Amino acid sequence: MNRSFFIKTYGCQMNEYDSEKMNELLTGVGYKQTFNVENSDVAIINTCHIREKASEKMYSDLGRLSIFKENKKKHGSNMKIIVTGCVAQAEAEEILRRSKSVDYVLGPQNYHILPQILKVKQNKKKFTDFLSEEKFNTFPNSEIEGISKLITIQEGCDKFCSFCVVPYTRGAEYSRPPEDIFAEANKLVNNGALELTLLGQNVSSYKSKIFCKPNYKPVDLCELFKILSKIKGLKRLRYITSHPNDIDANLINEHKLNSKLMPFLHLPIQSGSNKILKEMNRKHTREDYLNLIKKIRDDVPHMAFSSDFIVGYPGETDDDFQQTLDLINEVKFASSYSFIYSPRPGTKSSLIKDDLTSEEVAKKRLKIIQQVLINQQNEFNKTFLGKTEEILISSMAKKSNQYVGRTRYLQPVHVFSSKNIIGKILKIKLIGLTSFSFHGEILK
Ligand code: SAH
Ligand code: SF4
Ligand code: F3S
Repeated sequence: MNRSFFIKTYGCQMNEYDSEKMNELLTGVGYKQTFNVENSDVAIINTCHIREKASEKMYSDLGRLSIFKENKKKHGSNMKIIVTGCVAQAEAEEILRRSKSVDYVLGPQNYHILPQILKVKQNKKKFTDFLSEEKFNTFPNSEIEGISKLITIQEGCDKFCSFCVVPYTRGAEYSRPPEDIFAEANKLVNNGALELTLLGQNVSSYKSKIFCKPNYKPVDLCELFKILSKIKGLKRLRYITSHPNDIDANLINEHKLNSKLMPFLHLPIQSGSNKILKEMNRKHTREDYLNLIKKIRDDVPHMAFSSDFIVGYPGETDDDFQQTLDLINEVKFASSYSFIYSPRPGTKSSLIKDDLTSEEVAKKRLKIIQQVLINQQNEFNKTFLGKTEEILISSMAKKSNQYVGRTRYLQPVHVFSSKNIIGKILKIKLIGLTSFSFHGEILK
């Protein structure tokens, strides 16, 4: 059999992880990955539902895929089209109604059935049960090599922020057993990984247990870092995404003590206005957030922060927006993401029909906030010029003899070397800065 599959991935790193796992599942049953969708036997679109734009992309992809499928049919061969991910979970019926050429729709916790449905034609097309345990148990431990790898340790969310689809698309919180995570991490490190990023929609609410004679012992994120740090070849640990309410004193202390844990924390706040935070059901105030940042900085002074912001949430006034800008100016972020509020079907805030922010105002606010955040990122980066930092070199760059790596704060650094330096952590002097990327010189 010489069948091929193609996967296109949208959305967050959890989708990236899932796509890699689907890749391994399919390779395991004899399929080969192709980057040429037109000729593939199985085309998978792994989708994201977080904002409207993300979902729209899928429908335009499906249009093109249907044409390829029809063309293949004319030549006597078949192409299976499979939609996976968060749009699949949220809009399975709509997808099947709008595109007759889709063979199967699989929600994010159903990928383990892929080999089966490709082998035997199924009566149904929609698979959207919440089966996190089965999913992770069936995923093979990664064989795909890489210097910096992702591991999903937790999936789903119980927080129900009023704007967010994740609790509906990924279901309730599920934490993988620490033994499984350790085994996967160990395998990745044996295959050359030096850096692991632990993933979860709410990674800091990770909760599991491990058998320690004579009883079970609870394992939270901090404990998991202690366990994983024992892997000798592992040099760097990161995690994403945290919720401000789940960062406790133990985790902060772990940052202080564990040199493998990188001093960079992505901590979304969404808005700096208490009124909007309440409306968003975030269950924390701006003061809670600022106190948390202060507490972390008191204990770990070199810690850098990034965040997510939503502008134009219903009812957001100029004053609310100004409070977000004030908070940004107070914290000073190393980098951040900002988005215009997008009402998502099924969420609580999508039912709000009055006091909506106009598109024009939302766009204006996005432009302002992005400029402020870019300026802060520049300010943060400039403080590194002339400094020597440890850089983990992960791959070749565009020019010949050029390599790229990252600082402990995730800033990209380009450097020239006549020797292959991939997989090395080198002391590099940061001598130039173009946009958001440094140019460095390896110290002899
Ligand atoms: N679990 C993370 C975020 C997951 S979604 C957390 O709690 O922060 C990633 C980001 O997408 C969010 O932080 C938010 O800023 C943005 N986002 C989520 N839903 C959105 C919506 N309806 N409109 C605009 N941005 C949204
Ligand atoms: Fe969405 Fe809120 Fe859960 Fe983050 S914490 S995934 S924003 S519901
Ligand atoms: Fe998108 Fe689902 Fe991730 S909605 S951001 S792919 S959890």
